[in-house]
Amino acid sequence: MDWHARIERNGFILLILILVTVGIGGIVEIVPLYTIDTTIEEVEGVRPYSPLELAGRDVYIREGCYVCHSQMVRPFRDEIERYGHYSIAAESMYDHPFQWGSKRTGPDLARVGGKYSNEWHVAHLIDPRAIVPESVMPPYGFLVDRTLEPNAIADNLRANIAVGVPYTEDMVANAAADMRAQADPDADFSGLLERYPNAATGDFDGDPERLTEMDALVAYLQILGQMVDFSQYSTEDLRQ
Ligand code: HEC
Repeated sequence: MDWHARIERNGFILLILILVTVGIGGIVEIVPLYTIDTTIEEVEGVRPYSPLELAGRDVYIREGCYVCHSQMVRPFRDEIERYGHYSIAAESMYDHPFQWGSKRTGPDLARVGGKYSNEWHVAHLIDPRAIVPESVMPPYGFLVDRTLEPNAIADNLRANIAVGVPYTEDMVANAAADMRAQADPDADFSGLLERYPNAATGDFDGDPERLTEMDALVAYLQILGQMVDFSQYSTEDLRQ
């Protein structure tokens, strides 16, 4: 270890070698950032949230559902068996902020859309223990009483445009109407479904007369994991 002792005793050589080492480390960290655009591939089916889903997402974040629920299925065999295809980056490309994480007091919700009926979600959110007796999830029945005001939703879409979500002018202009239509079983959904394919429509909270935060939250839960058609993708390699 003669050479090492010599480097340590010579301040100049030590400095140069430190810079070389840190330089290599820096390049390894920085270079991949230049290819970040190709790292997140666009995947068919992923679209911005409909106005009602977006409002529901805000309720989800406001109520701190993320404190107990992640939305990220990791590429491990047990998770894939339990939840379905592992999460891909493109699925949360329009999430600001994204809901990844590993804090799971409750199950991961990345694939919960379509798993239960709207009635199940409403009953569960009103009183989790009525459905799962051992549940530690808090009740959120008050959401049924909180009327949702569509007035501000266009601004919400605009704020998302500012951070890169590709809402069109047409989407912004129709935001309030789309929000009402999605939760109204008698509405004409054609425009809404053209703008937001795959959106779940109809009454969500059990009261078709009123638009509530419960409608929004359930509409949001029902789209989770539903945008990408995973039947085209194989997870065989991870199941072996
Ligand atoms: C204190 C932790 C906690 C918080 C906060 C919480 N949950 Fe839960 N959640 C749980 C637990 C534990 C379960 C599993 C037992 C059950 O189904 O109630 C669960 C289950 C669920 C399920 C069923 C998942 C499945 O696949 O069966 C949904 C949907 C859900 N929660 C949504 C929410 C939403 C929406 C919020 C916020 C409004 C929320 N949770 C807040 C702990 C929590």
